Amino acid sequence: MFHSADVNLSDLLLSLSQAMEMAHTNLSNHQLRTAYIVWKMSAYAGLPVERHEQLFVAASLHDIGAFSPEEKLHVHDFELTNPERHCNRGVFLFKQVPWLTPSTNIVKYHHRSWHSWDEPISTDYVLDSQMLMLADVVERHINRSRYILHQHNAISDFIRKCSGITLHKDVVDLFMYVSNRDEFWLDLTSLNIKEILRKNGPFQHVFIEQKKVFAVSEIFRTIIDFRSPMTATHSCGIAACASTLGKLFGLTDSECRSLELAANLHDTGKLVVPDSILNKPGKLTDEEYAVLRQHAYVTYSVLSAVRGFEQITEYAAFHHEKLDGSGYPFGLSGQHIGTGARIVAVADVFTALNEDRPYRPRMKQSDVIATLRESADRNFLDARIVELLIDNMAAVEKVMLEKQTITLDYYHEQFQPIA
Ligand SMILES: [Fe+2]
Ligand SMILES: [Fe+2]
Ligand SMILES: [Fe+2]
Repeated sequence: MFHSADVNLSDLLLSLSQAMEMAHTNLSNHQLRTAYIVWKMSAYAGLPVERHEQLFVAASLHDIGAFSPEEKLHVHDFELTNPERHCNRGVFLFKQVPWLTPSTNIVKYHHRSWHSWDEPISTDYVLDSQMLMLADVVERHINRSRYILHQHNAISDFIRKCSGITLHKDVVDLFMYVSNRDEFWLDLTSLNIKEILRKNGPFQHVFIEQKKVFAVSEIFRTIIDFRSPMTATHSCGIAACASTLGKLFGLTDSECRSLELAANLHDTGKLVVPDSILNKPGKLTDEEYAVLRQHAYVTYSVLSAVRGFEQITEYAAFHHEKLDGSGYPFGLSGQHIGTGARIVAVADVFTALNEDRPYRPRMKQSDVIATLRESADRNFLDARIVELLIDNMAAVEKVMLEKQTITLDYYHEQFQPIA
């Protein structure tokens, strides 16, 4: 029933990058497009393969420190605001994942103008961050409602004016060379940019062990959950609950680890939901609820594009399906919902009922038990898993509380001052 497959690194990077920018047409594929530009530039510059790849990784996730759709749009007006915060948060997150860490300085300085540097352009991270800065400026200058070949000359003129001021002359010259063909601009703005990068970019044939993906799932859990103090420990609670239930159910350690990984990523689709809906203090309107509901579908579309994530996708994306077929987004009935997805669904409901929400306080234990049993009676949740949870509630809560306390401390120490 369970197995943990190796995961394709290119799919993982490109899908998660894209997920961060699906919320708004002015954002979509911003990071993938910057990755395309730096990929072309660093190839022409003849950088060693490792550096070439580090730059690509940095570009693909460079705005990871801007958590909500609102913040991402705001960051793009950074000339008017302070870009430091999202750069610093990006640095902090990159340091959590060993294979992201070498790209940290590129992310840190991706908004630093050339005239602010004391080091020479030959310093690796100065050149690399200047390339990313140029790519970011170019991408943000593209007017998405105009045909690209009607505006690319004006964009190039603007970049030329930055030469020697905000961007080093050599970096500008490099860009002029690689952008000197229609193909560059048409690729850059193509709806198939992800496919273009998947076929021509790095890591196409690199598969990494699932345990190496775990740290990435934790930083995505952070950017999903830390948008509000009320959800700061949500996915971490589900991960602890699901793996404890898995163990009680008789699953192996590796199966339980997959459940944790899936729980960390189950609300990936919430990256497309604005703060104004996610943190609304009152009841959502029908229109707002429709926007929120799409998150499970987005989780599915993002994770299912990653080779090696076939089972993780099911565990993560089916958490709002119900055994009677009345759930969303697919309306699957019980025969199509496996044990892993059933466990994550129970863990999600249990964790949510134990959390304060903007529209209601946390429930007392007797009400939690009654609500879980009612969901099992109505054939929404699996009755075996619900009873397993109720029979072992103290033990499950203990594990959850330990993990959630660590996460909450981390939130308060590093991330709370989110304006
Ligand atoms: Fe940025
Ligand atoms: Fe950016
Ligand atoms: Fe959800």
